[in-house]
Amino acid sequence: MDTILQIEGLSKKINGQLLLNNIEMKISTPGIYGIVGRNGSGKSLLFKTIAGLLVPTEGKIKVFDQYLEKGAFPKSFGAVLDTGGFLPHYSGFQNLKLLSSIKNLITEKEIREVLDFVGLRSAGNKKVRNYSLGMKQRLSIAQAIMEKPKLLILDEALNGLDEAGVDFFRKVFLDLKNKGTTILLASHNREDIELLCDEIYKMDNGVLKMSS
Ligand SMILES: Nc1ncnc2c1ncn2[C@@H]1O[C@H](COP(=O)(O)OP(=O)(O)OP(=O)(O)O)[C@@H](O)[C@H]1O
Ligand SMILES: [Mg+2]
Repeated sequence: MDTILQIEGLSKKINGQLLLNNIEMKISTPGIYGIVGRNGSGKSLLFKTIAGLLVPTEGKIKVFDQYLEKGAFPKSFGAVLDTGGFLPHYSGFQNLKLLSSIKNLITEKEIREVLDFVGLRSAGNKKVRNYSLGMKQRLSIAQAIMEKPKLLILDEALNGLDEAGVDFFRKVFLDLKNKGTTILLASHNREDIELLCDEIYKMDNGVLKMSS
């Protein structure tokens, strides 16, 4: 099977602290891979490193056929990270338009469609600073899925959503998986992990292990 994600000996040290410790991971089958672990264990750091936002201290990351070089971003990749990152004085539509202009893979019509899909049809023209928590989360998911990436990273992506939103996006993620997308998902919600994940890893103080 072709590589989807391969992490070899990945460590990250910040200010002398070893925050990711010799992480190994190999994914070659599409599916949903969960990562659990207590607050501060390193889940979000791992995701940011895979996303190319942090440079490893040691080790290598390969996404599909591409080794991530310093400053490079993986191709066919989308992510909901814990960083926020939208421009508050721009509308949801304008934010997605700006982000989509990096790769130029989708049209304005497709941006409207994805806003509609995530339940932000009437809020698309509203400034993001006036969004509720759940609306921002929906916009983050829209941003992550809009270019139909083959690898999707979801860091607490269902947090802040109403009940109907949680049900809807669980189905969306399962549907994406069935269409061949690979998803890495960090969550503190046991139900999300049990319902969605094919395999579960545990992060413990920067060390990643398969969970039994
Ligand atoms: N930019 C940074 N500089 C220094 N330390 C950082 C930085 N980002 C994260 N850390 C530290 O790295 C460790 C792991 O943080 P991380 O955000 O990955 O945890 P997490 O597993 O995602 O936790 P949570 O479940 O609360 O989301 C923490 O000790 C945190 O303080
Ligand atoms: Mg986190």
